[in-house]
Amino acid sequence: PKNPMNYDVPKEWFGDSLLVSSGAKWKRQRRLLTPVFHFDMLKPYVDVYNDCVEVLMDKWKRIANDGPIEIWEDISLLTLDSLLKCIFGVTSNCQVNKEHDMFVQTVKNFTRFATKKIRFANLPPLLFRYFTSEGRQWEKTLQFLHNYSRQVIRNKKVQTNREDNKCLDFLDILLEAKYEDGSGLTDQEIQNEVSTFLFAGHDTTASGISWCLYNLARYPEYQQTCRKEIDELMEKKENMESKM
Ligand code: HEM
Repeated sequence: PKNPMNYDVPKEWFGDSLLVSSGAKWKRQRRLLTPVFHFDMLKPYVDVYNDCVEVLMDKWKRIANDGPIEIWEDISLLTLDSLLKCIFGVTSNCQVNKEHDMFVQTVKNFTRFATKKIRFANLPPLLFRYFTSEGRQWEKTLQFLHNYSRQVIRNKKVQTNREDNKCLDFLDILLEAKYEDGSGLTDQEIQNEVSTFLFAGHDTTASGISWCLYNLARYPEYQQTCRKEIDELMEKKENMESKM
């Protein structure tokens, strides 16, 4: 069961998507989209993550001696980069291409406003949104986010036409999916799921990784323990691969 109080505001970006819907509607959508989470779909993504991290490392190497930095924005662009590649099959170069910075900032505005609305529940109702600066700002935020989702779908369609031999990704599944009665998702439903995965897939992981790095930096003794554990695991993996 979903608490409608928590989803009234996010619904304005995601519509009635998997994250927001409940009951029979959720079950129907979930059945359609579950193949996306299959382990075999996820396995090849590790190479994509590694490529994306290389881009971030190049970026950070250049500023490593400049003192402390706020990592959240760069990490958000990192998770957005891998999400766009893995889930949407879109090569965006968003870690270096400045035009995506605005998306990360706008998502930040979106979560700030949504959290405030959920916590205080006394913000102006929709009818009055054009009469307050916060309401107008919210409208602008939504408009930007809807356009970004539409742009991702457009880019995907252009790239699909250019490539012959490509792997099936989330957006392919969405575009080709059929319910039991043979009907597919409408354009609006596709856009809603794209928006949901754009947000659910990049903001969560960006927060998780940022907090993880922050804590590793604050507690070097745990950093050492983690490094040791990873080195041991990687050594085992390399040994296994060299024997194969
Ligand atoms: C550290 C990373 C993540 C965290 C902490 C996280 C957290 C959550 C939580 C708490 C929910 C349940 C929300 C609710 O029902 O009220 C959820 C649902 C969901 N998440 Fe994530 N998530 C993460 C990563 C991802 C990623 C990488 C994706 C997609 C690429 C994703 C897609 C979704 C979707 C589609 C749902 C709705 C599922 C459904 O209702 O059937 N999440 N996530």
